[in-house]
Amino acid sequence: MVIDLGAAPGGWSQVAADRVKAVDGKGRVVAADLTDIEPVPGVTFLHVDITDAEAPGLLRDALDGAHADLVLSDMAASSTGHRQTDHLRVIALAEAALDIAEDLLKPGGVYLAKVLQGGAGQDLVTRLKQGFAKVQHIKPKASRQDSAEVYVLATGFRGASG
Ligand SMILES: C[S@@+](CC[C@H](N)C(=O)[O-])C[C@H]1O[C@@H](n2cnc3c(N)ncnc32)[C@H](O)[C@@H]1O
Repeated sequence: MVIDLGAAPGGWSQVAADRVKAVDGKGRVVAADLTDIEPVPGVTFLHVDITDAEAPGLLRDALDGAHADLVLSDMAASSTGHRQTDHLRVIALAEAALDIAEDLLKPGGVYLAKVLQGGAGQDLVTRLKQGFAKVQHIKPKASRQDSAEVYVLATGFRGASG
């Protein structure tokens, strides 16, 4: 079970659906974005702003009470051209994705979020270290070396607190 936040135009959802064999009914992918995507077989799509109060409930309903193995966030607001502002905005989105991950991941689950250069920010790293066994920054091979794209990967979710 995969949650893909900031899914448009649908590239990651397509790969995730293939990996979990969603079309064969083995796994499922729930994707969300502000922008609609073309239907992807095996993917349940929600047109929602992840920072809206209704978003966690909509995702929970789409999962039919199940918990996710993986929460992906490639969310990014359009660039302002001001590096620090863009960084703060992407961190706010990564934090919104973490709120959802803390609610909907199963123990042992994985969170991956875009944070751009500058990394995850101290508050986000602190929260991740509390909630997950291992936290690291990664730059995927497919990401251009000259782009600001950096991701934070947290594995081994310790389980919902409280
Ligand atoms: C880089 S694109 C994602 C590309 C996608 N991973 C793919 O493989 O096709 C970033 C997406 O984040 C979405 N996004 C930004 N802020 C969002 C928010 N608050 N809620 C939902 N989606 C958001 C944008 O609409 C945009 O489609």
